[in-house]
Amino acid sequence: MAGFRIIGSGRYLPGEPYTNDMLSRVLDTSDEWIYKRTGIRQRHYCPEGQGPSDLAVPAARNAIEDAGIEPSSIDFILFNTMTPDYLLPGSGAEFAAKLGIPGVPALDMRQQCAAFVYSFQIASAMLTSGAAKRILIVGSEAHAGYMPWHEWDVLDGKTDKPQSQEDRERATRHRGFCIIFGDGAGALLLEATSEGDAGLLSAELHSDGSQIEQLRIPAGFKERPFINQKVVDEERMFLFMNGKEVFKHAISKVPQAVRAACKKASVSLDDIDWFVAHQANDRINIAIRERMKLAPAKVPSNIKNYGNTSGGTIPILMDEMRRDGRMKAGQLICVFALGAGMHWGAVIIRL
Ligand code: UT7
Repeated sequence: MAGFRIIGSGRYLPGEPYTNDMLSRVLDTSDEWIYKRTGIRQRHYCPEGQGPSDLAVPAARNAIEDAGIEPSSIDFILFNTMTPDYLLPGSGAEFAAKLGIPGVPALDMRQQCAAFVYSFQIASAMLTSGAAKRILIVGSEAHAGYMPWHEWDVLDGKTDKPQSQEDRERATRHRGFCIIFGDGAGALLLEATSEGDAGLLSAELHSDGSQIEQLRIPAGFKERPFINQKVVDEERMFLFMNGKEVFKHAISKVPQAVRAACKKASVSLDDIDWFVAHQANDRINIAIRERMKLAPAKVPSNIKNYGNTSGGTIPILMDEMRRDGRMKAGQLICVFALGAGMHWGAVIIRL
C-alpha cells in the first residue's frame, strides 16, 4: 500500500525561557493564575529582527540530520505559520533559501494552530500520488511581534527605569490572549513508501468562517492604507480572542472530529497509541480527554515548558516523543487541533 513514513524530526526554541513571574513585570498577572487556567509555566520569545523563517532553519536541520538525508533530496515544503516574517509573501520560500535549498517549491499554510492536520492530509496526497517523494513540514511562530507590551527591557530586567503606566495598562488590557503564546519551531520529514502500512489512514477536517470573529487580528487589506493610525489607536494589530468561545468550540468540535476520523479509518479509540493534541491550553486537552474517556497517559502534554506555539506545537511534541523513545514506528497516532479561522480536525496516522 502506498503511504509515508516519518523519517526525521527536529525542534528549536529560541533563547532562555520567560517564566510567568517574569511576565508579571510588564502586566498584571501571576504564576498562579496562568498555571491554574492554562498549565503554562514558561515560554520562549523570538529575538527582535528574526522571524519564523529563521527559527525554522535549526529545527529543519535537526530533522534532516535525524533522517540522515541530503537537504537537496527534499522536493516539497509545507510551511505553517500565523506570524509570517512579512505580511507578504509567506515565509516558506525565504525559509527554503535560508536552509540552502532555494528553488524547492514551498507552500505557505494559513490554518493557524490547525495547519499541521491540514499539512498531513496534503502531504499524504502528494506522497501517495507520486507528486513528491520527500516533504518537509515545518511549523514556526514568532508571536513576540504582537505582544502588547513594548518595553522589553523591563521584561528582560535590563533597566532600572520603571515601566510606563501606558505600557502596563495596554499589556494588562490584552492579558487574556498574550499569556498563552510562545515562540518556537518544529519540523517533520515525510518520505513516500510502498512497503508496510505506514501513512495516513484518515482525515476529518473542517473550516467555519462564520466563527472568524472569535479569534483574529482584526486589521488587513480592507482598509486604505492597510496600515493606518486608526488601526494602532484601536489596537487592532493585537490578537482578538474570545477565549471562552474558542474553548467551548474546541471541546465540542474536536471530539466529534476525532470520533469521525477513527470511524473513517475503521479503528477504535482504544487502538490509538497516542493522541497528539495541539497545545493551546492544558485545560482544553484535559476536558477533551475526559469527555472522550481517554487514558491521561495517552494524551501527552508539554505546554508547561513552551506555552502555545501555534503551528509549532504538534511537531515540537512529536519530536520530543520520537527522541525520548515514546513514539515509535508501527504505532497508531491521532493528531488533533483547532485554530483561528476557525479550522479544526483530526488525522489518524500509522507510523
Ligand atoms: O491556539 C489558539 C486557540 N486559543 C485557545 O484555544 C484559547 C482558549 N481559551 C483559553 O485558553 C482561556 O479562555 C484563557 C486562558 C485565554 C482565558 O481563561 P478564562 O478562564 O476564559 O478567563 P477570562 O478571560 O474569562 O477571564 C477571567 C478573569 C477576568 O477577571 P474578572 O472579570 O473575572 O475579574 C480577567 O480579567 O481573569 C482575568 N484575567 C487574568 N488575570 C490574571 C484574564 N487574563 C488574566 C491574566 N492574569 N493573564
